Amino acid sequence: MLHNKRITLFITGGIASYKAAELTRQFIKAGAVVRVVMTDNAQKFISPLTLQVLSKNKVYTDTFDEQDAEVVSHIHLADSTDLTVIAPATANMIAKMANGIADDMSSTTLLAITAPKLIVPAMNVNMLEHPATQSNLKKLQSYGDTILDPDTGFLAEGYEGKGRMPDPYKIVEAATSLLIERDESLPLKNKKVIIAAGGTKERIDPVRYITNDSSGKMGYSLATVARNLGAQVTLVSASSIEQPFGVTFIAVESARDMQEQMLKHYETADIVIMAAAVSDYRSKEQSTQKIKKSSDDLELVLEKNPDILAGMGKDKKRQFLIGFAAETNDLEKYAMDKLVRKKADMIVANDVSKQDAGFNADTNEVIIFQPDREPIAIDLKSKDEIAFDILKIAIKTINEK
Ligand code: CTP
Repeated sequence: MLHNKRITLFITGGIASYKAAELTRQFIKAGAVVRVVMTDNAQKFISPLTLQVLSKNKVYTDTFDEQDAEVVSHIHLADSTDLTVIAPATANMIAKMANGIADDMSSTTLLAITAPKLIVPAMNVNMLEHPATQSNLKKLQSYGDTILDPDTGFLAEGYEGKGRMPDPYKIVEAATSLLIERDESLPLKNKKVIIAAGGTKERIDPVRYITNDSSGKMGYSLATVARNLGAQVTLVSASSIEQPFGVTFIAVESARDMQEQMLKHYETADIVIMAAAVSDYRSKEQSTQKIKKSSDDLELVLEKNPDILAGMGKDKKRQFLIGFAAETNDLEKYAMDKLVRKKADMIVANDVSKQDAGFNADTNEVIIFQPDREPIAIDLKSKDEIAFDILKIAIKTINEK
C-alpha cells in the first residue's frame, strides 16, 4: 500500500524525535519515498544527517535554503506529497497548525499541503491534557486531519502518563489505513469481506481437543490483502497467530462457534471466504472436568459438524462464495465436486501433501476452479501473493457477472 507513495515526514522537537529514525526506516522498507522536514528544535535531538542517510533524500530544515531556482521548495514539497506524517508532533507545532501559523520550513510547508495528514502527538501528559492542546487537536480533526492517540506508559519525565509516541510500526499501520480510507479507486472499496481462518478446535474436556495442522496463514493473508484493496474485512479466526491490522477480528474455537459468527455477518457480505480447516467431527460428549485415566481403552464417539460453506451456499443471494479444498490426491475431481456440492463460486484447491504448499507453510501453490470457467493454476508463491491473485480473479469474475 505504501509502495511508491511520497511521504513527507515532519519531525518536531520532542524527546520522541529519536524514534523518527526508525519510523523513516520502516516507511522506506515498505517501499515509500520519504522526504523529511525538521524543525530547529528537532535538530537538537537528532541529526538531519541520520534522516538523510535513512531516507536517501535531502532533509529540509530552512525555508530560505532554495537550491533549485526552478521551484519554491516548500510549495514543491507540499504539492508532491501523497501523505503527511507529523511524528512526533509537539504541542507547539499542533498549536501552529491549528491556527495557521507559518513561521518556519515545517509550519509553512504544512500549511501548503493538501494531502492527508497523520498527526502523532507526543508530549508530557499535562501538556497533552491542557485545554489549549485538546482544543487545537479538535480543531485539526475538524479540518480533516487524523490524530493518532498517544500511548500511555513511562514518560521521559520519569513517571507514568499518556503522551508517549506509539511504536513506529503502529504509525506505519495508521498511515496505511489513512491511505486506504482516502483512496476511492480501490477495487474493493465499500465491499464487505468475511473470512474464516485457522483450524477449529473441538473440545473433549477442558484441557484436550481435536484439531488439525492449519496455521491460518492463508486466511490471514487474504484478510490483509482484501483490506489493502479497500474492503471492510471481518476475520473469524480459530488461529492463534498474530492478528492482522485493520480488520475486525473475531476469535472462535469450534466449528459451531465459527458457523455462528460467519452467519452473523453473512447477510451483508459481498465476498465470503472459507479458508478455515473446519473439523468435520466433534466429540459427542464434552466433559466439564478433566477426564481421568481409568480403563485401558477410552472410546471417543464423534459426531458430524455442520458444513459451514455448504450451509451458506444454500442460502446464497448476492454473496460471492470462495472455498478451499485441501487434498492429497485427485485434486481436480474433489475440487469440482466441492464447487458443485457446496454451491461455491470458487474453489481454491491445493495439494497438502506437497512440502512448500498448504498447511503451515509460508508459500502455496493452488489451482482455482470456478463454474463454467477454465481452471487457473497459480505456481508456488508467498501466501500474500497467492491471496492477491485469488482476490484479483474473484474481482474479475464478479465484475463480469
Ligand atoms: N468446510 C466448511 N465446513 C466444514 C468442512 C469444510 O465450511 N464442516 C469448508 C472449508 O473451509 C473449505 C471447504 O469447505 O472451504 C472444503 O473443505 P474440505 O475440508 O476440503 O472439505 P470437506 O467438505 O470437509 O470434505 P473432505 O474432508 O471429505 O475432503
